[in-house]
Amino acid sequence: MFQSLKTPAPDAILQVMQMFRDDPRADKVDLGVGVYRDDSGNTPVMRAVKAAEAHLLKTQDTKTYTALAGDPAYHAAMAALLLGDTVADDQIAAAATTGGTGAVRLVMELIRTARPDATVWISQPTWPNHTLLAKVVGVAQKGYRYYDAAEGALDHAGMMEDLQAAKPGDVVLLHGCCHNPTGADFTAQDWSAMADFLTERDLTPFVDIAYQGFGAGVEADAAGLRLLAERVPRVLIAASAAKNFGLYRDRAGIALVVCDAKERTAVQATLAGLNRASISFPPDHGARVVTTILDDPAMKADWLEELEEMRNRIAGLRRSLANALRRETGSDRFGQLAAQQGMFSVLGGSEAQIARLREEFGVYVVGGGRLNVAGLTEESVPRVARALAKALAD
Ligand SMILES: Cc1ncc(COP(=O)(O)O)c(C=O)c1O
Repeated sequence: MFQSLKTPAPDAILQVMQMFRDDPRADKVDLGVGVYRDDSGNTPVMRAVKAAEAHLLKTQDTKTYTALAGDPAYHAAMAALLLGDTVADDQIAAAATTGGTGAVRLVMELIRTARPDATVWISQPTWPNHTLLAKVVGVAQKGYRYYDAAEGALDHAGMMEDLQAAKPGDVVLLHGCCHNPTGADFTAQDWSAMADFLTERDLTPFVDIAYQGFGAGVEADAAGLRLLAERVPRVLIAASAAKNFGLYRDRAGIALVVCDAKERTAVQATLAGLNRASISFPPDHGARVVTTILDDPAMKADWLEELEEMRNRIAGLRRSLANALRRETGSDRFGQLAAQQGMFSVLGGSEAQIARLREEFGVYVVGGGRLNVAGLTEESVPRVARALAKALAD
């Protein structure tokens, strides 16, 4: 049975995690894995999550199956969080998923089912699971330029040039905010120009939003998505509650589809059927925690407050690292760090430079120089800046 089976290459990020665990140095710094950390290096259970779980412990009287697409109250709460009041309820189809990853996969499966000849256009670079999932689901994919490493900013001209080759019916995958891995986001004008372009070319946006609240704020981070939902007839959305609710292991995600009211019944039934064919019923605990928080004004206020603390910590660390690098290098070469959003930025660097960073300085980043800013502390910033300046500049 398994004679022809080859051991797949280990996932690059998981490999970095393992090397970090195996490193005995006390002052090692993990900037690899994409989870939020507080000043003590912990990924805390958020206060509102604790409160919601305590509430559920007291009041939940069954754990029987939900519906194939999950709990409608979760759909409504997440649709409101993501879309505000930009879209009427009868134009939204939804399905709870196993995290944002499950949502990306479900949307890819929906594309394959509804429009098998579509190509999904994916930013280069991107979160590696985008390309992996398109491949395993069997959806055609092409890359578009996204990041100008020399400028440390969005390569808008390159992106638009590459997307000229998209044909009507194709799908353009966009990061809703806090682009992973570059941290380079669209401006309001970029979103507006993209809405016009997509409409003119009959292209469908697929917005993956996994960091709402980590960039400029819960509302501000959804502004681009909402603009598309108002101006483009159909929008595919994959959202995760892993980061902004700290529910990583509970696997809370959702696929939302904005469509014509006449199409909604078919889209909704297709999403439910696709869940049936893979997981039957989606996980409910994390989704129910999210719904409990969003439906309770006091819990929601506390969640927003803690999320703001997290966002401010990330932004503060970005500024500190950019300043420390300015001092170390005497240049503004890493100045983009302060302007970028969310946990990630890419600093570039050859394999040898990344290895030197790890081996000589105990600083762990992912290949290509993606670093998770939330893995820093104010105390580790000067040391990391020195290491980055030495390893990447020499
Ligand atoms: C861009 C992006 N999309 C989706 C996800 C999915 O997260 P999860 O499956 O943990 O909810 C992530 C997580 O790293 C991500 O970075």
